[in-house]
Amino acid sequence: MRVGVAGLGRMGAAIAAHLIDVGHEVTVWNRTADKVKPLSAAGAKTAASPAELAGAVEAIVTILTNREAVAAVYEGPNGLLAGAVKGKLVIEMSTVQPETEVALAEKVRAKGAIFVECPVGGTVGPAREGRLLGVAGGTKDDFAKAQPLLAQMCRRVEHVGPVGAGSSMKLALNLPLMVYYQALGESYVLCKHLGLDPKWLMEFLSDTSGAPNILKVRGAKIAAALEGGDVGPPAFDVDNIRKDLATMVAEGKTRGARLPVTEQTLAVYDEAIKEGWGKRDGASLPAYWPSRGSRPLGKA
Ligand SMILES: NC(=O)c1ccc[n+]([C@@H]2O[C@H](COP(=O)([O-])OP(=O)(O)OC[C@H]3O[C@@H](n4cnc5c(N)ncnc54)[C@H](OP(=O)(O)O)[C@@H]3O)[C@@H](O)[C@H]2O)c1
Repeated sequence: MRVGVAGLGRMGAAIAAHLIDVGHEVTVWNRTADKVKPLSAAGAKTAASPAELAGAVEAIVTILTNREAVAAVYEGPNGLLAGAVKGKLVIEMSTVQPETEVALAEKVRAKGAIFVECPVGGTVGPAREGRLLGVAGGTKDDFAKAQPLLAQMCRRVEHVGPVGAGSSMKLALNLPLMVYYQALGESYVLCKHLGLDPKWLMEFLSDTSGAPNILKVRGAKIAAALEGGDVGPPAFDVDNIRKDLATMVAEGKTRGARLPVTEQTLAVYDEAIKEGWGKRDGASLPAYWPSRGSRPLGKA
């Protein structure tokens, strides 16, 4: 299939590389032109604009920072919707509020294209291997058209309702993780003075009732961060986590509810970003709160 990926950030680049691996003819575009080079070297065709990309493919995939990025890539001058999108399949995977996808779906459909949203769980590694967790929103018929391509990008895809439902579900599934990172930091404040090996601690905590799956997949990186070590290049950085938390708080307001734990977590991560943690991988966040100091045993 001829597939276009517009937006080659960490996730878009990994997804595009995987789509090449599984045999698609992939065309790419990115606002910052440098990021096109590795994909082009891996066999992708390149487009000079989103509109040109839309004209060259049968299906379009986007995964972009936020609402503003989505607006720019779809509706900007030479955006996707300025191209020949009629009859084509559009799969939008960014983490944004549901209303952003609902409004976009109307505009895409008005151009005669098929629209499915499918934000994802899982980071760069799973994206590169086609092992993301997808939560799709769209009509039953549209989802059926997108399903084969989604199944190549995801180890599991759930169709959770009409457009907008995928975003609601994505925000819901990320919220406990982001709160947990801060909870783990506070938990470490209570036991840091014991001097136990953080690698052992992550393994032990992962065997207790309070542990989420993240400890199994990111425990080693979190332990490295607690030891003050390097967690490697960021896959999902603190700036992006902050963006997700702000999106959750905004979506809570849209639903007529306050999310007090989420709001408080957002306030803590705002402090982390002010102190220069924004570009670090999210797995370093549990180390942020303890880094502000905790007393050793026996000291008042
Ligand atoms: N990283 C993860 O682990 C992960 C996991 C699940 C979901 N997500 C979600 O996936 C989305 C992308 O995340 P990411 O980590 O891949 O982010 P990223 O590396 O920062 O990439 C963001 C992409 O959006 C583009 N972009 C931003 N503003 C734009 C604008 N105004 N006009 C055109 N393009 C613009 C960037 O273009 P430039 O290169 O020109 O800046 C880049 O291609 C986010 O919604 C994130 O929440 C991320």
